[in-house]
Amino acid sequence: MAKTQFLTLNDLSAPVLFKVLERAHALKKSYQAREFSQTLKQHVLAMIFEKPSTRTRVSFEAGMTQLGGSAVFLSPTDTQLGRGEPLEDTARVLSEMVSAVMIRTDDHNKLERFAKAATIPVVNGLSDKCHPCQLLADLQTMQERFGDVRNLRVAWIGDGNNVCQTYLEAANIFEFDLTVATPATYKPEPEWIEKANGRARFVDSPEEAVEGAQVVATDVWTSMGQEDEIDDRLLAFNGYQITPALLDSAAKDVCFLHCLPAHEGEEISKNLFADRRTNSVWSQAGNRLHAQKALLEHLING
Ligand code: CP
Ligand code: NVA
Repeated sequence: MAKTQFLTLNDLSAPVLFKVLERAHALKKSYQAREFSQTLKQHVLAMIFEKPSTRTRVSFEAGMTQLGGSAVFLSPTDTQLGRGEPLEDTARVLSEMVSAVMIRTDDHNKLERFAKAATIPVVNGLSDKCHPCQLLADLQTMQERFGDVRNLRVAWIGDGNNVCQTYLEAANIFEFDLTVATPATYKPEPEWIEKANGRARFVDSPEEAVEGAQVVATDVWTSMGQEDEIDDRLLAFNGYQITPALLDSAAKDVCFLHCLPAHEGEEISKNLFADRRTNSVWSQAGNRLHAQKALLEHLING
């Protein structure tokens, strides 16, 4: 089986990513018609989660089942990983048994080590650095709304975190214009800013970033594993909340995106999801299923 990894968006070329998205749209249509193809019949995906998940776990597991395969959920606490078996040994063992592995980890280096030792495709289901599967779903959602995403005006408001860093990478690949508003001390890492290749600009004010934006995206202020920093973060992100008033200065047909889970009263105002401009977050979540099915087909079947 060919070994193609998907640790960051850049692991696949732009034409391949566009093809995966094209297939994601087709798979969504089939899903809506309740027509399921068996393209991954008898294939098994192992899923290692070092952190909690709702969307990633369910979308990968449901996706494998719908394509005729299955998924195995593994948590460090009930596998030998939690008792110190080296990642590399685990990668080699799983490579003998399953067709692909998805990993959610607090340390991107672990993903890289695992992928180096594995002989099957390895997929990043969220790391401290990036969340490429999320961006596939976000891009699918943007394409559904706007068709062509080239030169789309996208604003990112809030933390310069793993999801924001993936937006930077995506801006270059998919050629959209990204404006990022973060507090000065919560900017993305310089090496991820470079990946935007000039497609991103940075401003301090959320109002300035959102002005005329066709897509407004945000994420939690305190990511998983940063819970000790919550007090400092609440102070630093004061003023970066997405409210109906802030969305008023975006484009009239603005598409609001949030990878979820959301924290009302923090990065979004109370009842923001009652505002119809945020309806897209539900199809965005649903698109995780379709985009990842397309990705798995590509990685496993080629
Ligand atoms: N957006 C996302 O990855 O959600 P989960 O943490 O529920 O998987
Ligand atoms: N930035 C969030 C994304 C969750 C899907 C986190 O890392 O917790």
